[in-house]
Amino acid sequence: MNKNEFIRRRKALCEKLEDQSFALLAAGKSKHKSLDQMYKYFPERSFYYLTGLKKENFILLLAKNKKATLDFIFIEEPSEYATKWLGSRMTKEEVSDISGIDVKRIFYIREFESFISNNLLLDSRNLLLDKVPETIYLDMYRASHMQKPISFLTFQKVIENYPELRIKNINDKVFDMRRVKSNDEVNEIRKAIEHTRKGIYSIFDYAKTGINERELEATFEYNIKLSGSSGNSFDTIVASGKNATVLHYVENNQIINDNEMVLLDLGAYHNEYAADISRTFPINGKFTEKQATLYNMVLDVNKRTIEKIKPGIFVKELNDFAKDALAEGMIKLGYIKEKSEISKYYYHGVSHYLGLDVHDVGTYKKKIEPGVIITVEPGIYIEEDQIGIRIEDDILVTEDGYENLSKNIIKEVDEIEGYFNKKE
Ligand code: GLY
Ligand code: MN
Ligand code: MN
Repeated sequence: MNKNEFIRRRKALCEKLEDQSFALLAAGKSKHKSLDQMYKYFPERSFYYLTGLKKENFILLLAKNKKATLDFIFIEEPSEYATKWLGSRMTKEEVSDISGIDVKRIFYIREFESFISNNLLLDSRNLLLDKVPETIYLDMYRASHMQKPISFLTFQKVIENYPELRIKNINDKVFDMRRVKSNDEVNEIRKAIEHTRKGIYSIFDYAKTGINERELEATFEYNIKLSGSSGNSFDTIVASGKNATVLHYVENNQIINDNEMVLLDLGAYHNEYAADISRTFPINGKFTEKQATLYNMVLDVNKRTIEKIKPGIFVKELNDFAKDALAEGMIKLGYIKEKSEISKYYYHGVSHYLGLDVHDVGTYKKKIEPGVIITVEPGIYIEEDQIGIRIEDDILVTEDGYENLSKNIIKEVDEIEGYFNKKE
């Protein structure tokens, strides 16, 4: 992505901040797994969104006064030890090339505390703003209510040393921006979906009765990486038979029997942007009559829900529509008598935002608008029949309606059967 995009985002965010205030955003660090093992570093999404950088421990500082918005970044210092053990660290020039932050405004992390004291927070020497700021913006995202936000821990010293600073959460402002994608972001998601498409077709190619679900998981993850993805954007779901009635089934370790359906829910990353696709198919390539009937009912709801997408509607309207349509379908097929009974067979929402996070950020209280990307993923889960079906597409809201970004991934019964016939 071009550095001008990151410059534009920081400027747009600064415009939303109070005058004479500043913001700190942390890149985060890898989390502890066990003993000397750490999880692979996963860049904090809003930090990445504003900088394009994926390096642990970096800190972004945005300061706002009437005349200008000022952006600074604090990075890890190159050292011989780090180069030998962890690979070379980024130089100031490299950081500047990606983020668009002026080299003169790039400092080392060890300089951070004295920098903000000397340039920002001590009255006599405030060089950045017209007066000592009263407000600090932090990303107060927390994984659970039992945990303190990461930035609260990262910037604990600043908070403790300057108790007069009023802390404001920057989340809503960044999330509001992240909710509506730029053309560059849409293109990243198109590429993530293309990796995912290749991965799904590799599954179709590999699929046959008697294999283990994990073989299909491995095939997907191998092929998206061959295609240029950094990996899967969430835990891959390959669920055969009754496993597909468990929404978050990730064990992927059962043998797939003849005549069983397989539910795939998977996605690849491209430059940190996620795809999220579901397809369901018979392992032997031929739908039974009952499978085809149920599948076509879900497919019909998938298509009709997609057709409703246009600027000016709420995601809730899609949820309500899909639930009602699935209920009607299940009444027609004799599974239920009343619409209210649908919760026995369908128990999740039909849409969520998609972006840097799979369940991306942003309020659902606003109407959808051009640039928003949402999933459409109706499903039906029938434990007594050992069948779960979900069909999920990724949809871009456009000026006059929508574009189905995953339209190249087949989902019609005859297309899927035709694909399996051809490979034999
Ligand atoms: N893969 C998670 C979801 O479809 O929302
Ligand atoms: Mn999904
Ligand atoms: Mn989804």
